[in-house]
Amino acid sequence: MEHTDPTRESYEALPYERLVHRFTHPERIARTARLRGFEPAPVSTARVLELGCASGDNLVGIAYGLPEASFVGVDLSVRQIEAGQRRVADLGLENVVLRAGDLRDVDEAWGTFDYVLVHGVLSWVPEPVRLRLFEVCRERLSPEGVAFVSYNALPGWRFRRLVRDVSLAGAAGGREPRERVRLARERLALVAENVFDAASPWGRYLAARQKELENESDGEFMHEFLEEQNEAFALRDVVGWAAAAGLEYLADAQEPYVTEEPPPQVRRALEALPDEIAREELLDVLRERTLRQSLFVHAGGPARHRVDAVCGAGPRAELEITHLSRGILQSTRPRASALARLQATEGSRVTSLEHRNVTLDPLAEKVLVLLDGSRTVEEVAAACGWPVAMVEAVIEGLFGKALLEG
Ligand SMILES: C[S@@+](CC[C@H](N)C(=O)[O-])C[C@H]1O[C@@H](n2cnc3c(N)ncnc32)[C@H](O)[C@@H]1O
Repeated sequence: MEHTDPTRESYEALPYERLVHRFTHPERIARTARLRGFEPAPVSTARVLELGCASGDNLVGIAYGLPEASFVGVDLSVRQIEAGQRRVADLGLENVVLRAGDLRDVDEAWGTFDYVLVHGVLSWVPEPVRLRLFEVCRERLSPEGVAFVSYNALPGWRFRRLVRDVSLAGAAGGREPRERVRLARERLALVAENVFDAASPWGRYLAARQKELENESDGEFMHEFLEEQNEAFALRDVVGWAAAAGLEYLADAQEPYVTEEPPPQVRRALEALPDEIAREELLDVLRERTLRQSLFVHAGGPARHRVDAVCGAGPRAELEITHLSRGILQSTRPRASALARLQATEGSRVTSLEHRNVTLDPLAEKVLVLLDGSRTVEEVAAACGWPVAMVEAVIEGLFGKALLEG
């Protein structure tokens, strides 16, 4: 199939940052699905496919903790896939295959999958890819399979759209991605600092976003605000595209339940709405939701019980996925996750065993790379030139962030 070259070029020039997306973890998806009365395939031996997986960091983070499950990732960007393949080889992971290609070409030769993950893709691809994406999900899903599809959500994302418009105008003269990001940042700063009415909602919003975006990497900035294609959708439209492909909306992976009782007037307004989608859309406004992470299953399956998503009548999903015992703190030769150790040699952002992004401080970074299970705490302290008690405190901190495995 003909590839969308502008998309590929932009991701090759400024690859997406290494990030894992905690709600894509099949364990969390399975727990949310079960709360809706849908019994998904066992996670420990599942087959997992990720469409638009970039360098596969998200998939690798999941695969590292599920050695009996198998994982396939596909992305248009050859450069990102090659980087991911090197990472998989360095870690010696035998349960991950990363392939460069167009997601539209994923056919029956790829087999079927219990979990299909599509994070940060739907909003970024042109309509034909968007519609095919749902067909691929349905065609590749096993009968008890669950697809995860995230997208920028309306109406909340319209606020970010304002920032995108200012950024796009600023970047207009730039030729290559880094220059465009620089120009866009300059324009945002100029506008935020000189807006005629700094006390107006517009002035305050721009100033707050501009400050926030100073901490965002060029890659994140580029793909959120300067990509040629970046759309936001209402839940109703997304559910419609999925239905046309033969999929049924199950739930959202993130905060499916509101634990606090809403005020009576909100409850009455929600109860008066005709269907679950209308209730979800009102909740989106009340929550200022800008991102949806929706789960889909084959249409026409067994009836599910609809958990009351309004007032927390259903049990809240227990979404933590590791249950590490404090006993490992007694280990004479502590061992940190090999994935995190490898990542720490390249930068301060690592993936935890709970599939979260963790930014290490310099002390933690220094200790973590030494915790390969071959050294005692005293030897680590000697290698760092620090007192043993200080190293013990750092190790305790690493345990708290789910980075210790033995
Ligand atoms: C915004 S990035 C998201 C990356 C990753 N899933 C994440 O959320 O961190 C979108 C990714 O989709 C990929 N992509 C876009 N169109 C594609 C297509 N037709 N087939 C496969 N990958 C595609 C891009 O190369 C890019 O890596």
